Amino acid sequence: PGLDVLARKAGLEYFGTAIDNVVLDNPTYIAIAHNRSEFGQVTPSNGQKWELIEPQQNKFNFTLGDQITVPATKARQLKRCHNFVWHNQLPGWLTGRNWTKPELVKVLENHIKNEARHYYNDCFAWDVVNEAFEDDAVASLRKNIWLDTIGKEYIELAFKFARKYTKPGTKLYYNDYAIERVGNKSLAVAAMVKDFRKRHIPIDGVGLQAHYTVGRAPTYDEQLATHKLFSDLGVETALTELDVRIQLPDNATLQAQQAAVYANSTRACLDADDCVGITVWDFWDPVSWVPSTFPGFGNADIWDADFTKKPAYFAVSNLL
Ligand code: XIL
Repeated sequence: PGLDVLARKAGLEYFGTAIDNVVLDNPTYIAIAHNRSEFGQVTPSNGQKWELIEPQQNKFNFTLGDQITVPATKARQLKRCHNFVWHNQLPGWLTGRNWTKPELVKVLENHIKNEARHYYNDCFAWDVVNEAFEDDAVASLRKNIWLDTIGKEYIELAFKFARKYTKPGTKLYYNDYAIERVGNKSLAVAAMVKDFRKRHIPIDGVGLQAHYTVGRAPTYDEQLATHKLFSDLGVETALTELDVRIQLPDNATLQAQQAAVYANSTRACLDADDCVGITVWDFWDPVSWVPSTFPGFGNADIWDADFTKKPAYFAVSNLL
């Protein structure tokens, strides 16, 4: 049995993967990506981001998103959709001029409305707002076009628009990295969640991206405490972008350490009260975002370049 079959037996809702558009012509890749026994859930790595979905104002192009969601639907895989609001991968028409607050709120609503409607029957979960907080040392809201023009209200507006235009029952997530330990940043996110719950701003989950590095990853206990931080506030959690990068050159010792990080993360999700699933941020080393983003690092995924399952794969499957 594959990872998703095992994960469901172990009580999770899914084990999934991100899929990027650049590998759609690779039949071996596609056969694994849409093998429902391995992956019961799929997230587009890029296809649903703003610059691709709305490349010109109010001109929507769902081609790249659909390239991921349509085959996933055929394969009866769930879709986590990613994302409505972020500071990266925004189109030039949006970043290249000064908006008034009412104008930008309209832009935000129109984007969420159109994208939510197009994917109305597809997405069981949406990352509504992605990476809105600065790192631990600051832990305040990240300076970006949304905060600068609309103010901190942009986050709750996005969640309200998402609730308004997505199918009832769609899980609405706040998603971020470096919140997998209890620390300034995760506590700042928790404070926001608590405030949203109090004021009835719709939010269902917090996505822990879980982009880890061998040698620096949070332990099982640290991750379990973080899941609890959020579940105590009445929201579910998920590992939404799990990968574990290695400082190259790779070797068997590092791969074993990597496997242990994947295993700890999986075990913490299984043991947490409300961690619903795990998504790897791609499963195949050659398409990982890591080498281009973190020079000198790589091999972060669970299948190697030859499509051989790595120790990390078996560490996860043995545990599930
Ligand atoms: C990454 C993609 O994997 C890359 O292909 C792209 O060039 C940049 O974005 N956090 C996120 C994801 O929420 O959207 C990012 O995806 C990785 C970090």
